[in-house]
Amino acid sequence: MQNFVYKNPTEILFGKGMIREIAGRVPQDLSVLFLYGGGSIKKNGVYEQVKAALKGHRVTEFGGIEPNPLYETCLKAVEVVKKEKIGFIMAVGGGSVLDAAKFIAAAACFSGTDPWTILLEHGANVKTALPIGTVLTLPATGSEANGNSVISRGATREKLYFFSPHVFPKFSILDPETTFSLPVKQVRNGIVDAFVHVMEQYMTYPAHAPLQDRMAESLLQTLREVAPSVLNKPKDYEARATFMWSAALALNTLIGCGVPQDWSTHMIAHELTAFYGLDHAETLAIVLPGVWQYKLTAKKKKLEQYGQRIWNVKTAKEAILKTETFFHSMKMPTRLGDYKISAKEAARKVRERFAERDSVFGEHNDISPDAAAKIIASRV
Ligand code: NZQ
Ligand code: ZN
Repeated sequence: MQNFVYKNPTEILFGKGMIREIAGRVPQDLSVLFLYGGGSIKKNGVYEQVKAALKGHRVTEFGGIEPNPLYETCLKAVEVVKKEKIGFIMAVGGGSVLDAAKFIAAAACFSGTDPWTILLEHGANVKTALPIGTVLTLPATGSEANGNSVISRGATREKLYFFSPHVFPKFSILDPETTFSLPVKQVRNGIVDAFVHVMEQYMTYPAHAPLQDRMAESLLQTLREVAPSVLNKPKDYEARATFMWSAALALNTLIGCGVPQDWSTHMIAHELTAFYGLDHAETLAIVLPGVWQYKLTAKKKKLEQYGQRIWNVKTAKEAILKTETFFHSMKMPTRLGDYKISAKEAARKVRERFAERDSVFGEHNDISPDAAAKIIASRV
């Protein structure tokens, strides 16, 4: 096992009715920015619950954070933060709203001249940030319990991430009832995203970390088992609770402690979203089997272990096939052709971009721009 430091400062408040707990957790003397997305929270009662919990506070609202949140929109929110002397950000929505809150919280305190460098330097230049609380309404990203944020720049079609210990939420409310209103497509996306988060921290090579392996496998197994109920029974509280907790644990930094990590699927997938506008999880489902196929030899032992323990199959190839079948069972396509996107063109665009940035990814640092292009080209 590799050395590691484990620190997760986010307090999780889980269950029915927990939104009211906001009241005692946001300091009375701080002005609050109530950040949300395109309006789903106004249709499912979440908006009213948050407003009620913040009754005693001075609140400024900022709605309109889009899926794959835009840098340009975040900068508008930063202006509001400065004008209204905001001291606390309450983010209510899916991963996009939470990620936007993290960027706004960091950019509002940023002393450099160009906030875009927060993303170019992946957060290394973030020295402090405003405190954040969240109410999560879409289990998927794990943003509710980590220090990651992914922001897109509309003008240049870039999508970059940053990490900072300063942007972990102070607290996150996870009430499974807030997910009852999710469209089935977002539920499917959430299952796939959480599943792939586990994979990025698991599907590498044996690393003398049997506990991390078993924890990762229990998340994969649980996501697999709960998927049909989560997809088909929107008001099944227990299934939604299991899903919500699984997605949080998939990327709250715990299962990645002391083990090699990959993340090449995410890095390639972000580019596909940036160029073609596909949902985050849609791009993951395309890229993941391609990365595994390309790294079949290096990942063979773990693919076999995963295949045996989760799907009861023997070979690495069968494990890949089972995973694609699982995605298809949720009506999640796994090929670029399913979206009428030319794999050849996508491969060229992503290769160029990674070459410009000198990017290499993967647990062996061998997913070069050329390798990424080959992976994409194989997903016709
Ligand atoms: O904007 P509203 O109206 O709220 O609607 C949203 C949005 O249209 C809707 N929605 C959310 N909760 C709902 C709901 N509709 C009905 N009922 C509810 N309860 O769902 C749509 C998608 O929301 P979004 O927040 O974009 O989805 P998701 O949570 O999948 O977040 C995706 C973003 O997170 C990034 C992705 O790249 C992408 O930008 N990621 C963040 C990570 C992190 N912070 O650790 C890691 C991930 O790998 C990922 O990259
Ligand atoms: Zn993801």
